[in-house]
Amino acid sequence: MKPRLHAPKRTLLIDGIGRLFERGRVEQDVRMLIRDGRVAWRGRADESAPTVDDEVVEHLDCGGRAVLPGLVDCHTHLVFGGDRADEFGERSTGVSYERIAARGGGIRSTVRATRQASETELVTLARARLDRMLARGVTCVEVKSGYGLDLDTELKMLRVVAELQRTHPVELVPTLLAAHTVPPEYEGRTESYVEHVVETIIPAVAEAGLARFCDVFCERNVFDVAQARRVLMAGIDAGLRPKVHAEQLHRIGGTQLGVELGAVSVDHLEAISAEDIGHLAGSETVAVLLPGATLFLGMSQWAPARALLDAGVTVALSTDCNPGSSMCDNLPLMTTLGCARLGMSPAEALTAITWGKAAALGLQSTRGHLGVGAAGDCLVLDATDEAQLPYRFGEVRSWAVVCSGDVVVGPGCPSL
Ligand code: NIG
Ligand code: FE
Repeated sequence: MKPRLHAPKRTLLIDGIGRLFERGRVEQDVRMLIRDGRVAWRGRADESAPTVDDEVVEHLDCGGRAVLPGLVDCHTHLVFGGDRADEFGERSTGVSYERIAARGGGIRSTVRATRQASETELVTLARARLDRMLARGVTCVEVKSGYGLDLDTELKMLRVVAELQRTHPVELVPTLLAAHTVPPEYEGRTESYVEHVVETIIPAVAEAGLARFCDVFCERNVFDVAQARRVLMAGIDAGLRPKVHAEQLHRIGGTQLGVELGAVSVDHLEAISAEDIGHLAGSETVAVLLPGATLFLGMSQWAPARALLDAGVTVALSTDCNPGSSMCDNLPLMTTLGCARLGMSPAEALTAITWGKAAALGLQSTRGHLGVGAAGDCLVLDATDEAQLPYRFGEVRSWAVVCSGDVVVGPGCPSL
């Protein structure tokens, strides 16, 4: 967990919780004490909280509202320069994402803008996106590199994440995605670029301690399974756990590779098969579904959340926030898509932006629940029932957001 930003922090008593939603279950009439950024005690409405002498206790009375653990957005490309509104317009007239990429647009267009942007500009842009996320109750965000595709710019992007980690209340989890696509200077030389990623970029990033995970875009005409395997194995050797962009546009085997290498998650999965679901069901790998990207790319095939859940796979939902395939930082909206397009129940969708996410980042002990010892982060909805969140179609009203025991959004706070 991240250190306090503004010492000294006071203890916070959160009272009047009408419904506390955790891991698909609801407990009514709860109060809790957050001390030193963590849940220190939790009890019923009529129990007195064990405060200690001389402790300054701040009080947040939720007035019977519904509360969830801080939301986790586990797959984002939050740091980038420029935008791709022009490509979105072209796609609306029938030009495909792959065709735009093939002519040097797509990811490469954002690579050009991100290479040009200064570190300070990237921090400012990403901070604004993080502020909006926090206002909706998101208190932990995974952020990928992957718009640098050379050592200097990949390091620059990850330093931006580290700077925000130091100066923003949201906990950030950095992922190296040097194998996002082949940069223009390696055009036609995919193997040489993989070599560069494996021999130079991964060791340097790991040495700098700037990433926790290593990801790859395993896709037809990008990186095939053998190349993805090399990248992920090099990541494992350097201490970075694998994640995979798998079976987004075509089924080429990224899911099975992820399971085989013990990936913490495989992400996208619009094109997976029943066999892939079988592989996932027998593993600890989380299926991260990104319905914002499916929607934004105008795809007709949605990830089979129902079949995954029925097979016992842990499912997480995330925004995939990025300028090309999902220009959206609204995680609650993904629960609406989960229910309306993926066949999830509201409780399953809410679990997928809290607990499933914790698992997708290996943060089960501190996130996705509000037991003693968990991160002192929660979202107090301006509603008495958490089912309002998917129902209200992207228009979540946060009554308050608590981050590490600080009330950062809500009554008495300057608005973000
Ligand atoms: O997760 N699929 C690959 N990567 C991103 C898209 C990045 C982009 O288009 O800039 C994704 O959808
Ligand atoms: Fe992505």
